[in-house]
Amino acid sequence: MKNSASVYLPEIAEVVSIRNLTDREKYLELRMKEKNEFTFHPGQFVQLSVFGIGEAPISISSSPSHNTVFGVCVRKMGDVTSAIHRLEEGSFIGVRGPLGHGFPIEEMKGRDLLFVAGGLGLAPLRSMIRYVLEKRDYFRRVTILYGAKNPGELLFMDEIEAWKERKDIDVNVTVDNADGTWSGDLGVITRLISPLQLAPSDTYALVVGPPVMYKYVLLELQIKHIPEDQIILSLERRMKCGIGKCGHCQVNGVYVCLDGPKFSYHTLKFLPEAL
Ligand SMILES: Cc1cc2nc3c(=O)[nH]c(=O)nc-3n(C[C@H](O)[C@H](O)[C@H](O)COP(=O)(O)OP(=O)(O)OC[C@H]3O[C@@H](n4cnc5c(N)ncnc54)[C@H](O)[C@@H]3O)c2cc1C
Ligand code: FES
Repeated sequence: MKNSASVYLPEIAEVVSIRNLTDREKYLELRMKEKNEFTFHPGQFVQLSVFGIGEAPISISSSPSHNTVFGVCVRKMGDVTSAIHRLEEGSFIGVRGPLGHGFPIEEMKGRDLLFVAGGLGLAPLRSMIRYVLEKRDYFRRVTILYGAKNPGELLFMDEIEAWKERKDIDVNVTVDNADGTWSGDLGVITRLISPLQLAPSDTYALVVGPPVMYKYVLLELQIKHIPEDQIILSLERRMKCGIGKCGHCQVNGVYVCLDGPKFSYHTLKFLPEAL
């Protein structure tokens, strides 16, 4: 943000491409109208506004290395996200951000990474995963676990198939329910954690998914002895300003928009309303 007078004022971006991912998720690439680059860290979000409708916080899904355009994956939920789904290529949208804190990349360099994505949680994790794959030498072992309710809800499957082909990462996908055409793993995502051989003191776990998933994933990560300050989770709260002014996103005195949305479990453990 340039100055305090403009913090609530969206900048204009053009929708340069739109891709249908599933029945309810679209991937949009945006290009800022008045600047050549959009610089951000994996795990940050933007406030997207559709004029005359409103604003919604949405995670950035693309890699920070390619910053002339950036990507967002939007699930159709209510007024704003439905209006985003109605946009066409070449139309304009308002952007505030990037906002919040992303993943602690510097701390994680030289360590093993375990990604645990549930459903739409892959959207923010994809930004970090793509960065890690580009800078593969910065990190040691990389494991990606991804779970969804059924095969039709899996996002970015073309990319995931390409990740599976790589020899330098391990990728496992599971769904809770499927018919006979699904040949992959079946069952909740926690089942993929127990067989893993991890080096706990050297592993960072990056976990993003629905709140119900956190409880069970945290139990598995504790069984694996991953240190609490090396478990990074994302909190989703209703937001208005996105910049620590309105208090809408507050959890036990912490502003999720400003201090998060990425937090270590060590921090969240002391916020009774967080999980
Ligand atoms: C930091 C952050 C990052 C997010 N990243 C993404 C993303 O990458 N892609 C994406 O599709 N969505 C993301 N969301 C959720 C998204 O912001 C909401 O779905 C959106 O604000 C709903 O707005 P709406 O006007 O379309 O629907 P509304 O009419 O406001 O709400 C429709 C339904 O969605 C629920 N809802 C609204 N806001 C939230 C929220 N913050 N968390 C959970 N449920 C909510 C409401 O309870 C209601 O049931 C993110 C939210 C946060 C806080
Ligand atoms: S959304 Fe306003 S303080 Fe966080």
